[in-house]
Amino acid sequence: MIRRLDSVVASRIAAGEVVDKPSSVLRELLDNAIDSQATKVSVYIEEGGIKSIRVTDNGSGIPEEDLPLAFERHCTSKIATLDDLFALRTLGFRGEALSSIASCSILTIESSGCSLCCNNGILGEVRLGSVIEGTSVIMEDLFENIPARKQFLRRPTSEAADCKKVFLEKALGFENVELLLFIDGKLFIRLPKQSKLERVQDIFAQDRSFVKSSLVELTREADPIRLHLVFSTPDCYKRDRTQIKILVNNRIVDNYALATAITNAYSAALPGGAFPFFCLFIEDSPTLVDFNIHPSKRECKIRNQSTVYALLTSMIRDYLYNRSENTYKNLMEKQESFFDSVDLGEKETPQIQKPVYKPVYTQTTPTTPTAPAFRPDPKWFEAAKTVLSKKPEVEKPEKEKPHEERTWRYIGQVFNTFLVVETGEELLFIDQHAAHERILYDEIRELKDVQPLMLPYVFDTDRSTDDFLLENSYIYREFGVELVRNKSMQWEMISVPAVCRKNEEEIVKYITTATGDVESARKGLFAVIACHAAIKAGDVLDSITARALIEKVFNLDQMLCPHGRSFTFKITKEELYKAVGRIV
Ligand SMILES: Nc1ncnc2c1ncn2[C@@H]1O[C@H](COP(=O)(O)OP(=O)(O)O)[C@@H](O)[C@H]1O
Ligand SMILES: [Mg+2]
Repeated sequence: MIRRLDSVVASRIAAGEVVDKPSSVLRELLDNAIDSQATKVSVYIEEGGIKSIRVTDNGSGIPEEDLPLAFERHCTSKIATLDDLFALRTLGFRGEALSSIASCSILTIESSGCSLCCNNGILGEVRLGSVIEGTSVIMEDLFENIPARKQFLRRPTSEAADCKKVFLEKALGFENVELLLFIDGKLFIRLPKQSKLERVQDIFAQDRSFVKSSLVELTREADPIRLHLVFSTPDCYKRDRTQIKILVNNRIVDNYALATAITNAYSAALPGGAFPFFCLFIEDSPTLVDFNIHPSKRECKIRNQSTVYALLTSMIRDYLYNRSENTYKNLMEKQESFFDSVDLGEKETPQIQKPVYKPVYTQTTPTTPTAPAFRPDPKWFEAAKTVLSKKPEVEKPEKEKPHEERTWRYIGQVFNTFLVVETGEELLFIDQHAAHERILYDEIRELKDVQPLMLPYVFDTDRSTDDFLLENSYIYREFGVELVRNKSMQWEMISVPAVCRKNEEEIVKYITTATGDVESARKGLFAVIACHAAIKAGDVLDSITARALIEKVFNLDQMLCPHGRSFTFKITKEELYKAVGRIV
């Protein structure tokens, strides 16, 4: 049944289901098909989804009388009250997607033997349609009536690639649903109903650097959380983080802290700059997860994040390094010291020294540029296992040194923007965004993590940018962005800082528009990089990330942001006491 939400519920749901490109339309249509309990969903995409996207499912269907409501804003069958919002089991709940899509395309829904079309916001009449099992939703001519938005669409091949990504990410969470993707009339991907492991394997197999039959599956529970991990063994890896996927209750999310936990726990088993194929499924009680904090729903707040972090790290390490003493229980008992050590990188226990862990990699003759260039020496794994399964000879007193050195205590985050730290006789407020910007700035300028691009990013410039780059391309190199001139007014970008591996397009967009003085080009480029990579004001930080950041802040010579402003504010104990008329 479709109900109209009451206005309180409606306003609590952040407005703006943004339809900005075909793949976001596809995401919504897939969500609806899956929410309808379908067991088979077919997707047909024409011209990158700009011309049309059709999603057909065999789910519950929509009753004839409800068809007009499906196009109306804030009409949903998925929640009725505010409480339902906190016990969400469906992917949709805002009741906004179809109305948003219908306002900027021609949207037709076929169900229950009827069909109803809404042409750029103008709703038609319910007509008799073909009889199908579930529902078929067809979106045509996206942004045809909104040229200002249409011009931002990219080439059909790029939009189709985004659609494919959305399709695969959605498929990860729903192995019980058979999914088919047709692009321009041809069957492109077929995923049968299968086990989770098979589903992950089929999806990773879409990536050319994936080596089949090298996946590990682990599950562990710590009520109310259940973690299910499917990941590659260290002989199969990628040069970027794009195949690290995190799903919370079957929704793909972006979670910086957990992605870092994965790369940190795994890093010793891989050569530098390599990342595993990794799928983390978190199942948590819907009451403890809040997806409503971000309209695009890729971010979500996990109330048990530190438990997940500890559990995840111990699962990976137990498996990779066979260290049974490092159980979840131990970790939780020693949570404080454990988290401190996570913050500080490799200091978890004294016996883990990088030289022991580091595999000996032998280089095989590279075949194609996309094939992984390194293979681990199998002997290493055996050797490492023996070394690591030994109990540490001397149980060193627990991490005394870092505690002695550390003269600060993390109190917490306020206004989702400031980290509060007690340092002896002072209370320090750190602006998390500016601090992280500064740290990123230093790290990027050190050029430690420059990522060569597998395929150079070729771009054309106008005459003035060409001239500017001829003289000044070195300023971008200082940030790890290496540019090479192909010919007059054509350049290629061959490397970027690893933190902006996925934002090449925006970097190029910036470079092709930035002319003028060198200093503002420098600042501008960094702003583009930081905009994507830096923690923002308003981001909720878990204590692990916060402490890692604070640690780095204390290692700075000067607590100034890249623009030279101070990002900290201090109040002394004396000032505080005075303020309330107390004698120190
Ligand atoms: N494929 C489908 N099968 C069954 N019902 C659907 C389908 N697509 C949409 N609906 C119905 O239309 C309503 C509105 O969809 P939508 O605008 O995406 O909002 P939401 O998914 O947030 O509820 C849904 O609540 C659902 O009842
Ligand atoms: Mg929906």
